[in-house]
Amino acid sequence: MATERALEMATDIASYRNDFPVLKTKMHGQSLVFLDSAASAQKPQAVIDAMNRVYESGYSNIHRGLYEISQNLTAEYEAVRGKVADFIGAPSEKSIVFTGNATEGINLVAQSWGKTFLEEGDEIILTEMEHHANIVPWQMLREEIGIVIKTIPFDESGVLDLKTFESLLTHNTRLVSFVHISNALGTINPARKIIEIAKDFYPEMRVLIDGSQGIVHNVVNVTELDADFYVFTGHKLYGPSGIGVLYGKEELLNEMPPFKGGGDMIEKVTFNKTTYKEAPYRFEAGTPPIVEVIGLGAAIDYVSAVGMENIAAHEAELLAYGSEKLSTIDGLILHGTAPDKAGILSFTMKGAHPSDIGTILDQCGVAVRSGHHCCMPLMERLGLDATVRASFGLYSSKDDIDQLVKGLHKVKELFS
Ligand code: ALA
Repeated sequence: MATERALEMATDIASYRNDFPVLKTKMHGQSLVFLDSAASAQKPQAVIDAMNRVYESGYSNIHRGLYEISQNLTAEYEAVRGKVADFIGAPSEKSIVFTGNATEGINLVAQSWGKTFLEEGDEIILTEMEHHANIVPWQMLREEIGIVIKTIPFDESGVLDLKTFESLLTHNTRLVSFVHISNALGTINPARKIIEIAKDFYPEMRVLIDGSQGIVHNVVNVTELDADFYVFTGHKLYGPSGIGVLYGKEELLNEMPPFKGGGDMIEKVTFNKTTYKEAPYRFEAGTPPIVEVIGLGAAIDYVSAVGMENIAAHEAELLAYGSEKLSTIDGLILHGTAPDKAGILSFTMKGAHPSDIGTILDQCGVAVRSGHHCCMPLMERLGLDATVRASFGLYSSKDDIDQLVKGLHKVKELFS
């Protein structure tokens, strides 16, 4: 079944659109053209059904009940850990920590690994294209323990300057943390190369990848990358919100203290002393997002059946089509033209502010994001306060792009 669907995908992605009920919605009386998948992707029926099934016929808490439905749901929940490990090429399900989202994963590493292994004067390297989620947790740590934050610049097209990166590495550098695919520009960063440079310089260097977009647009293999940490979130991967993943090398996770304390993460509690479970459980205090984990598992089954390679190929075709169409609009400037790019088109237009463009597109039934995309330093580097961003998912089509272009012509009419 899955293979048949994947073959269909290669020839006709349009059929997959029907798996997403929300895409039948109207917006201002017009068919919804959803081009904001980078913010959050829509959900296929299979994910909605998997979550409803648990609520309707087998819901309970997990890891605690001796009764059948709790035991069954615990097994199903834990099986998703293995599914995630397989999906990202992790050697063991013990290296998969369920978090609330990618942001929580980065905060966990900053607070747990950072406070254990970093001290005043230690340096970490980020990039100028980071999402706030990979900036603010490190600034908070800087306030607490006095680390130094350096940043890798990028050029006009949105490509990281790896020569400068090499020059930033010193004997005090302990961590390099960077975004796999920029949510604001679409640049696919050369993750393997960055890790090689970092580990050639100092084999014990730790590397964290923010894979919020990376996981969505192509195959990821954390073992081949040799990433120490890789974080992502479920809701951009066609799964529910409220569930994310932190992959960490198992031995590293077991050297890290818990981030949050509470039930289910302990071995023994007395008022004098508490001992903790091994990873990943020591990082999952309290009742976890049970149904969201099941939803994430269904989302992984879904995209695996479609085939991540097929999704990447489809989005590459849309990117080429969209870039070409947008470049024909007079006064439109594309931001982020790196040769290696995912299905994200960020742009501005002469004479119209991105929020005006977003509002007019909304009236045309086209959903895009306008703003700084949680990347204020990136915007500052480009000398902008905002862009309009059209981002594709596996259900996006050339018709969607045509509708976008139609809406942009309307913007031009109104603002010229
Ligand atoms: N980080 C999400 C975005 O890029 C919300 O829009």
